Amino acid sequence: MYYPEELVEEVRLKNDIVDVISGYVKLQKKGSSYFGLCPFHNEKSPSFSVSRQKQMYYCFGCGAGGNVFTFLMEYENYSFTEALKVLADRAGVELPEMEYSKEAKERADLKTVLLEINKLAAKYFYAQLKSEQGRLAYTYLKNRKLSDETITAFGLGYSNKYSDDLYRYLKTKGYSDEILLKAGLISADEKHGAYDKFWNRVMFPIMDANNRVIGFGGRVMGDAKPKYLNSPETPVFDKSRNLYGLHRARTSRKPYFLICEGYMDVIALHQAGFTNAVASLGTALTSGHASLIKRYVNEVYLTYDSDDAGTRAALRAVPILKEVGITARVIRMDPYKDPDEFIKNLGAEAFEERIRKARNGFMFGLEMLERDYDMTSPEGKTGFLREAAKRLAEFDEELERSNYIEAVAKTYRVNADELRKLVIKTAVRTGLARPPEKPKSTLNREKGKEDGILKSQRILLTWMIEDERIFSQIRRYVKADDFTEPLYHTVAELLYHQYEEGALNPAQIMNHFTDEEEHRRVAELFHTRIKELSTVQEQEKALKETIIRVRQHSLDERAKHLEPTDIAGLQKLMADKRALQDPRGLHISIN
Ligand code: UTP
Ligand code: MN
Repeated sequence: MYYPEELVEEVRLKNDIVDVISGYVKLQKKGSSYFGLCPFHNEKSPSFSVSRQKQMYYCFGCGAGGNVFTFLMEYENYSFTEALKVLADRAGVELPEMEYSKEAKERADLKTVLLEINKLAAKYFYAQLKSEQGRLAYTYLKNRKLSDETITAFGLGYSNKYSDDLYRYLKTKGYSDEILLKAGLISADEKHGAYDKFWNRVMFPIMDANNRVIGFGGRVMGDAKPKYLNSPETPVFDKSRNLYGLHRARTSRKPYFLICEGYMDVIALHQAGFTNAVASLGTALTSGHASLIKRYVNEVYLTYDSDDAGTRAALRAVPILKEVGITARVIRMDPYKDPDEFIKNLGAEAFEERIRKARNGFMFGLEMLERDYDMTSPEGKTGFLREAAKRLAEFDEELERSNYIEAVAKTYRVNADELRKLVIKTAVRTGLARPPEKPKSTLNREKGKEDGILKSQRILLTWMIEDERIFSQIRRYVKADDFTEPLYHTVAELLYHQYEEGALNPAQIMNHFTDEEEHRRVAELFHTRIKELSTVQEQEKALKETIIRVRQHSLDERAKHLEPTDIAGLQKLMADKRALQDPRGLHISIN
């Protein structure tokens, strides 16, 4: 934490959330809240609400929510500190200049220092590109049809021909060899000492969703190998949880992302107006990428290379995306290699056309399957349809299966009822009448349970801030220590403390979390969707169940960590367990 919490709170209190958000979103008063069109997802009727009383916002459509700092962080891609500075400025609050010595900084926070080094390196590479030494690299980018605007927007740069240029530059800034090695920009060995990882390459800085440089890709300007070098994974660079271009795509306000393979594809697409393009960073799409994408959109178009590797990659990505609830369509780039070449040759309109004609993931899979059969012969086509029927039989949901049967029948010109019969026959024969139960590993089961209890803890916290009277009742049974997840535990402690002081103020609690990821998780925490329960009885029942669940888990955890010699502790645990088992002991009333 850079600034004292009281100061942060002062800034927050002096920036009324309704006033601030009104600068971005047209709000209308309805009851005690203000409503408008959500700036974080596409919508036609307003589900974005701002509460002056609570000083929080929440979108019932996409689940975005938080306090005034969160809003600026999300809308403007600011870090917490940047949001704080802007709002302090707006309210005329003077923030003290923070001066740290280099050593103090290095100790303060490894991540912060690594980000700072990356930023310096990015600026350095950019300056090199614009200098005389960078002329060749600049010409290279120009020949690849990038405009100056695009080069600046993506912060492209050049690492020059000297093999320790960046190293020496960063040394003048006072960083130790140790930290430079950690940043992944420098290598070292006995023979050569320290030297730059990248030299004589065009540099692509990789930004996270909050516009911070977390790593680099560097391309040779000819045919040498390897074509691209990338930063290694570091404490700030996790390849399976970041996407190239996300910092721009996330504010594109389109309901879907275009996912491609390469740096140049993303850049070419953005330049052509497809500002929702991202790429995984030289790795296959992971479930980490999928959940990251799910934060922004429910739909993607895969625009992978048209070669076999690209096709296979697309086929593998479809189920990974489906797993988190994202529908995928596949765009073919043929006769060109990739989106970059496609756009260069056929232009944006033709690409637009391909988007319109994109096949959904399943149909794309079938199209690839066609290649294994001679579709012109009756045997070939029958063999193909048998395999297609097998795949159709695997849809869990009746309606979805039925829709796909019709689509397949239409595409391959066969009678839909005949195909349906074949699917049913296949299903019965292979025991697929119900989709095969995938043997879930115990790990997965554990994880499911884990997620369940976390959700219960979240629900309880949301309930507590909704209504002080409910808080007072929950408090009789559940203590801050019962929230076992460390972040939730911190939040719970702050909340209980506020309650005892006489005023719940969740918007203030959020100030406590200045790390973007944590801040976002806390914002989510306060807005866990509680199932719409119509009657008071239902609500009371659900609340009781949640309380029991959270308590039970907390007792189980306590049992796990209890020393066998701790007799008093054991007795207390037993008493607590008995109390929990006696349902008469739990009195909850809503209203
Ligand atoms: P491609 O080989 O398709 O290159 O690799 P590209 O993106 O079309 O690049 P240009 O147009 O020739 O400049 C796709 C992606 O795979 C990763 C990079 O992220 C690249 O953008 N890659 C490729 C590497 O990391 N290393 C390599 O040597 C090659
Ligand atoms: Mn390319």
